[in-house]
Amino acid sequence: MIEPIYYEDEKLYIVDQRKLPQTLKIVEINSVDEVVEAIKSLMVRGAPAIGITGAYGLVLGLKDWKGSENERFFKQLDTCYKLLLETRPTAVNLSWALNRLKRKASSLQEKPPGEIWEALLEEARNIHDEEKERCEKISLFGASLIPDGANIITHCNTGPLATGGLGTALGSIIIAHEEGKKVHVFVDETRPLLQGARLTAWELEQAGIPHTLITDSMAGFVMATQKVDLVIVGADRIAMNGDTANKIGTYNLAILARHHEIPFYVAAPLSTIDPNIENGNGIPIEFRKPDEVTHFNGKRVAHEKCKAISPAFDVTPSGLITAIITERGIYKFPYNFSKSEIDSYI
Ligand code: MRU
Repeated sequence: MIEPIYYEDEKLYIVDQRKLPQTLKIVEINSVDEVVEAIKSLMVRGAPAIGITGAYGLVLGLKDWKGSENERFFKQLDTCYKLLLETRPTAVNLSWALNRLKRKASSLQEKPPGEIWEALLEEARNIHDEEKERCEKISLFGASLIPDGANIITHCNTGPLATGGLGTALGSIIIAHEEGKKVHVFVDETRPLLQGARLTAWELEQAGIPHTLITDSMAGFVMATQKVDLVIVGADRIAMNGDTANKIGTYNLAILARHHEIPFYVAAPLSTIDPNIENGNGIPIEFRKPDEVTHFNGKRVAHEKCKAISPAFDVTPSGLITAIITERGIYKFPYNFSKSEIDSYI
């Protein structure tokens, strides 16, 4: 398995996900501004991967302040924190990781900046390592819900590229396959940016798992005409009642699954649950440039004056979600996550 994100000698290395599957290019990143651009442009994407990258981004942004006075070091920390936080609003993993580093720095504020910086690097590495461990656990629980011979539908990309580990929804499929179960995946292409067609199909190919690409609008046809056993997706932010924000089109898929009485699973780390948001109405949704919809592959397809919107995520009401698979186990609807319970895990 490739390492899609790694930090070495004060440099961050990231697989440029925009170039896949045609080119596997690893980009060297040296500054917080480059990290900001990498996240905004979707060079790196997927909720856990954004969190890991954001954490290393903060460390990179402070590397030249190691020898300065504490006040200047903390001022720079605030500047980098804000820059990174503003990159993408929906995935809670980013603020979660950045806040974790900020808390770490505050707990050491009397120490020299060089020492604080070392501790921040260690914390970023911990976040990265823990994310890998969480993926393993989630995937084992997820695989237990996948029967031998299963036909599965998935949406967007939730594998190693999106998580820095094995993956969540895709990790569950990979483990099921490694356990010897014969699985086949229908991959939603995931309009408008084609994370399914470009990334998930590629990762399934790497893992040797049989798959068939469909456009998002074919999911109903596939459910009505083929034996589909389950749908499994990831999440960018989960409210305390289980309402789940994930890639645009997930909500449609959940409604179709309910109509066809097919289990609909969400696989995500507990850090994706936002203890401060009661239900889906409170989840901020990122709106991207309308060009992503009016254009295809850089070419305009709609008429010149055509208006378009590009919400990057939608919210699936918890009532449509059969179970949420986490590193602590499988939670079934209705979801009664308690704030103190979630706070204690993360
Ligand atoms: O806009 P993206 O590509 O970052 O959106 C990613 C998704 O919606 C994923 O399903 C989600 O982050 C889960 S990744 C394990």
